[in-house]
Amino acid sequence: MVFDIDMIKKVYAELPGKVEATRKMLGRPLTLSEKILYAHLYAPTTAAYERGKSYVEFAPDRVAMQDATAQMALLQFMTCGRDQVAVPSTVHCDHLIQAKVGAEQDLAVAIDTNKEVYDFLSSISNKYGIGFWKPGAGIIHQVVIENYAFPGGMMIGTDSHTPNAGGMGMLAIGVGGADAVDVMAGLPWELKMPKLIGVKLTGKLSGWVSAKDVILKVAGILTVKGGTGCIVEYFGEGADSLSATGKGTICNMGAEIGATCSVFAYDQKMSDYLKITAREEVATLADGVKDHLRPDTEVYADPSKYYDQVIEINLDELEPYVNGPFTPDLAWPISKFAQAVKENNWPEKLEVALIGSCTNSSYEDISRSASLAEQAVAKNLKVKSEFTITPGSEQVRFTIERDGLLKTFDKIGGIVLANACGPCIGQWARHIDDPTRKNSIITSFNRNFAKRNDGLASTHAFVASPEIVTALAIAGDLTFNPLKDTLKNEEGKDVKLDEPKGFELPPNGFAVDDPGYQAPAADGSNVEVVVSPTSDRLQLLAPFKAWEGTDLKGLKLLIKAKGKCTTDHISMAGPWLKYRGHLDNISNNMLIGAVNAYNDKTDSVKNQLTGEYGPVPATARAYKAANIGSVVVGDENYGEGSSREHAAMEPRHLGVRAILVKSFARIHETNLKKQGMLALTFANKEDYDLIQEDDTFDINGLTSFTPGQPLTVVAHHKDGSSSEIVANHTYNEQQIEWFKSGGALNVIRAQFAK
Ligand code: F3S
Repeated sequence: MVFDIDMIKKVYAELPGKVEATRKMLGRPLTLSEKILYAHLYAPTTAAYERGKSYVEFAPDRVAMQDATAQMALLQFMTCGRDQVAVPSTVHCDHLIQAKVGAEQDLAVAIDTNKEVYDFLSSISNKYGIGFWKPGAGIIHQVVIENYAFPGGMMIGTDSHTPNAGGMGMLAIGVGGADAVDVMAGLPWELKMPKLIGVKLTGKLSGWVSAKDVILKVAGILTVKGGTGCIVEYFGEGADSLSATGKGTICNMGAEIGATCSVFAYDQKMSDYLKITAREEVATLADGVKDHLRPDTEVYADPSKYYDQVIEINLDELEPYVNGPFTPDLAWPISKFAQAVKENNWPEKLEVALIGSCTNSSYEDISRSASLAEQAVAKNLKVKSEFTITPGSEQVRFTIERDGLLKTFDKIGGIVLANACGPCIGQWARHIDDPTRKNSIITSFNRNFAKRNDGLASTHAFVASPEIVTALAIAGDLTFNPLKDTLKNEEGKDVKLDEPKGFELPPNGFAVDDPGYQAPAADGSNVEVVVSPTSDRLQLLAPFKAWEGTDLKGLKLLIKAKGKCTTDHISMAGPWLKYRGHLDNISNNMLIGAVNAYNDKTDSVKNQLTGEYGPVPATARAYKAANIGSVVVGDENYGEGSSREHAAMEPRHLGVRAILVKSFARIHETNLKKQGMLALTFANKEDYDLIQEDDTFDINGLTSFTPGQPLTVVAHHKDGSSSEIVANHTYNEQQIEWFKSGGALNVIRAQFAK
């Protein structure tokens, strides 16, 4: 058993009491999301939280991490002094495997190239009680839904498609590594109380239509921003008629509309899926509290009273959709798609069709697609486009191989890729004669932004259900509508594809030989974490130094950034991803995308010690070497973008003491506080203009650092004059403690040292 049954028992034992208390406090019936949210508060509350306004501290039940984001999260975790993670956690090796030839060879190459990262992740997981899923075991979200997701639970995962587990009735939210560290260390995890969007599903899917089409339609309605700050809760008899994995697909792609997460209520389909994935015990426990795992019945009667927005979709009338190119919310019902392709001059020839991924590799998806592949063979149709299959997990791969489905795909020239992200995250060494040629591909994945799959700006990527992707692969033509068009077969006859047919769950159950799971050591105290001292991809972290106890004097201006400065400007992605586990190396990208207000250039700032201009990281290193702290000045909404903790760790590592800006993006501001930095804002925004290129700063008021009391920043100018700047902050008592101790993890370490 890989899941933690005791944790689930505890959640279900406490659920009825917590739901009842919440119902009483709010004085009204509850949606499912509210039941789960209030049941997972870090500390009980006596007052309701305001949706879209209040910041709330939660205690999630689980953490899942993929291999790219787990590295820095775990390097940080290991400095916090705990000998075990505070909640059940897992690591999944799925992002670093490049698709090139086929599953076996690609996996072997990845294991070789990423050996040091895998060895590190395996050993650190073993030491701290973390379940480790080896490369080849599967994609994080498929492995989670098969093994860990449970109705009514709350989890966070360091990947944007973590909400996939909503298909099993769980509030599952994608976060940055810093949040994972908090939860694994036993700290509260903060989230703005989400608003609620209710999606009522009526009717039943049939024929060519699948669960994927529900979310493709929803994406068209809500657009890529429409779900921001919201939980999307699906309900109605249509919702209950969808398979658990189909529900997972819908929740997975809630990320494409910016939703915090999406969720379905516990039902027979979830119970069936729990049972067939060897979790009968969880199903029985869930049955015992099932009323608490669904919205209160009054909510169904008048949903607009309980949700901030309600959308209704009739599954009887739903058409298959194809979304794209370049954005997942450009939604085309299949009946209109051919015309759109022609009118927009998108390349009609379909070059590659890809099914599977974390989004769509259930037994239902694969068996329905295979039924079309079978027809292609039986009807003597030659498959016109390249076709790949990415199973979501070894359990799915093994089962579909056992049941002959992979053989069917093989007959139509399908290539099975490793059980990993591969082409979905751009880990795809695509074979294309001319990379600049406009071309079309279609996937059953979730994202289709430019360059996402193959790194080519010329590729037009579309997203559809695996059934539609397979049908279009057979046709090799984007304008083909399998619902009404015929294809010419090898004998020159016109043939039509019949509706896809498949099995929701494998008739002979799931099977797997080696699932690729490594259970952690029962006692990890003697396990050594493997990091080569010569590695350029991994570096153990030393705890940051505590505050020296005095005001800060003589800090140099590192950069006055002008205009937009997102976490991408502060810590670029792309080639730097490689160094996600090596703070010193990745720090060489610090602020290299920010525009210097004095020369309008990027990565060119004045070194006040030499008077010369040089890259930002090198200049910061020069100050650090001279034992001089530095200050970064910024504009509005500094640090917007992702929750990437590197954007806060890098300045901390390179000796920046304070970030003084007109305003912060909230998550980045919190990340800076967690790393023991000073995150300050100009009380008068015009004071930004007072900052001069050769300024030296003092930061005063730290010895009486108090919530709500501004600090004073004195900017000493080159001409001998100075400006006194009032610097506001939002530190609470706890966060001041983080600053004084040199970072939040140092505070935890001190607690464990006691
Ligand atoms: Fe991986 Fe793509 Fe899913 S990157 S986790 S398969 S969204």
